[in-house]
Amino acid sequence: MVSQCKTAILISGSGTNLQAFIDAVGNGSLDLDLTVVFSNNPNAYGLERAERAGIATACIQHSDFLDRESFDCAVITELDRHQPDLLILAGFMRILSPTFVAHYSGKILNIHPALLPKYPGLNTHQRVLDAGDKWHGSTVHFVTEELDRGPRILQGRITVGPSETADELRDRVQTIEHHIYPLAAGWVGSGKVVFKNGQCWVDGEKSPEPSQVTL
Ligand code: GAR
Repeated sequence: MVSQCKTAILISGSGTNLQAFIDAVGNGSLDLDLTVVFSNNPNAYGLERAERAGIATACIQHSDFLDRESFDCAVITELDRHQPDLLILAGFMRILSPTFVAHYSGKILNIHPALLPKYPGLNTHQRVLDAGDKWHGSTVHFVTEELDRGPRILQGRITVGPSETADELRDRVQTIEHHIYPLAAGWVGSGKVVFKNGQCWVDGEKSPEPSQVTL
């Protein structure tokens, strides 16, 4: 993409993934310009993490808007003040309108706590346990109009323990997320990975399957 890619991180909650980005930029392992942290939730702890790190913050509450479209237009106006090259959804618990996705086409990444295409949507950890799956994990993907269905870039995989609870699984999945999300975002920021013709390309080659990391 560009050197010192201007990056907006969108959160709704605790922001442990945001913290992983802050730490990776801080220790020099990730070359992104963290320009703004945006939240739809004024109480999101991630806003405090951003302020402590000296990153600009912005907050617009979705509950102040009549519909998704008008909220998304307000978010676009706010984010465009910072001219982001890349948008990182890090626990941003809002479904994006087609208008929003088209405005930032190919520039939005999401992390989803499942081995997509399995388990799009919510409650992924419990659903993995209910199905008796041996493998679980998280996926970094480009965002398209279809929820949790955009081209996958990188997956982190873990084995499911025999008597593990959903909360324990969530914690282990988050640990691997903190590794794979900055890594994948760095690939996009450097131009190694791009979104072209609705697909993920790595080093100039179409890449229908995601790269994988196993813990
Ligand atoms: C992350 O585990 C992420 O995978 C999940 O929210 C969590 C946010 O944690 N995202 C989704 O479920 C999106 N569908 P964090 O606020 O501590 O980074």
